[in-house]
Amino acid sequence: MKKGGYLKLAGAALFAVFALQSCRQGGEAKKEMDTASATTKSSDEYTTVSYFTMNSKGELERPENYRTWVFVGTPVTPNDLNNGKAPFPEMHNVYIDPVSYEHYKETGKFREGTILVKELVSVGSTAAVSGKGYFMGEFIGLEASVKSKEHFPDEPGNWAIFSFTSPSDGILKDTSPKLPVASCVACHDANAEDDFVFTQYYPVLRAAKGAGKNTVPENTAERVAEADL
Ligand code: HEC
Repeated sequence: MKKGGYLKLAGAALFAVFALQSCRQGGEAKKEMDTASATTKSSDEYTTVSYFTMNSKGELERPENYRTWVFVGTPVTPNDLNNGKAPFPEMHNVYIDPVSYEHYKETGKFREGTILVKELVSVGSTAAVSGKGYFMGEFIGLEASVKSKEHFPDEPGNWAIFSFTSPSDGILKDTSPKLPVASCVACHDANAEDDFVFTQYYPVLRAAKGAGKNTVPENTAERVAEADL
């Protein structure tokens, strides 16, 4: 390992000790620790807290309140890099329900009852005072994927995928049937990094995977130096 690597590691270790001490020593940090462990459920409880509802027809009701869940990333497939029309327009804000996030952090696995929501946003402006780029425009659609052996015993990986998007009138549907495996799940199965989820594009989930129950990944000092990219 390069000398810089050891230095970085030593720095991270020092920071971890410091962080632990400030938690132990009380004040605001202590309170935050307590809240974090209070919201961390035991594995048994995980299966009982659900963030989605299936109606009597076996359709998923449109998820609500997801902008307060854990945000995991924003893939961007802009129309202008896809011959004028990207297959999945355009910016994709992805969220996971908070209990499944905790479970993923603790176990490195997506629990029974995981729901991920993907909110589609158009590209608005392509220039700002900060430079040229892709800036979010308007909300245009909503999709979700759910892992549940109870509801989808025969689907690959027990995942089912749904869409509430209604491109013609812009009004989201209230419910969605599970979409055919061939249209959605098959591509996720073949290409997604971790159990049908595209964690290769979600740094928040990569940092959390198996990090440990009481770890808060974003509080570590470790980052990738731009020189290493
Ligand atoms: C050709 C491959 C492909 C197909 C087909 C596909 N997806 Fe995806 N999907 C992706 C990729 C790649 C990502 C992650 C990057 C992104 O959002 O562009 C993703 C991410 C998602 C996510 C966020 C959670 C996750 O698993 O990462 C949802 C929800 C989703 N897709 C729904 C759908 C729906 C609904 C359909 C069917 C209408 C569908 N997908 C079909 C490739 C595909």
